[in-house]
Amino acid sequence: MFANKSLFTIVIFIAILQFSQVNSTTIEIPSATGWPLLRSSSAFETIYNRNDNQLIVIYFTKDNCPPCNVCAPLIGPLILNSTYANVQFFEINFSHFLNIPTDYEVLEVTSLPSVKFYRNYEATENGYIKFLWKSAAPMVMAQDTKKFLEANYNL
Ligand SMILES: *[C@@H]1O[C@H](CO)[C@@H](O)[C@H](O)[C@H]1NC(C)=O
Ligand SMILES: *[C@@H]1O[C@H](CO)[C@@H](O)[C@H](O)[C@H]1NC(C)=O
Repeated sequence: MFANKSLFTIVIFIAILQFSQVNSTTIEIPSATGWPLLRSSSAFETIYNRNDNQLIVIYFTKDNCPPCNVCAPLIGPLILNSTYANVQFFEINFSHFLNIPTDYEVLEVTSLPSVKFYRNYEATENGYIKFLWKSAAPMVMAQDTKKFLEANYNL
């Protein structure tokens, strides 16, 4: 009887432990491309507001977006290609971006999926932003992303 009681106590204790872990652990947001996720305006700005010639690729996506599901696996592996070792790739998941109502750079993206390239965004004279925005044709967008990378990665 005593043994049963302590077993019961242990089971309850483990149950409480599990429950509190589920509730306190930060929820992992999956990245569709495998690229690092940016989840706030401040994180995003730190990435693009620079003038060191770094090429930045941002992939914009969200939940329940069938064309996004086509595009992500096509462009995701680019981050593994050693040709693009000097390119930085990031993903923004609209369903989990914290500052959508106030972020101009994000509000400009009104169609998903979208890909946006940045280089020297802060130094506007030589800098550019290039937008690939063809959500109706995600395979075309993936192809154009590759073409743009090939033409620009080592400038
Ligand atoms: C965005 O995050 C949600 C929830 O965490 C996830 O279910 C969804 O798959 C993500 N969307 C994409 C396209 O990765
Ligand atoms: C890596 O990118 C280069 C340049 O676009 C391409 O020629 C090559 O096939 C790619 N490698 C892989 C493993 O996809």
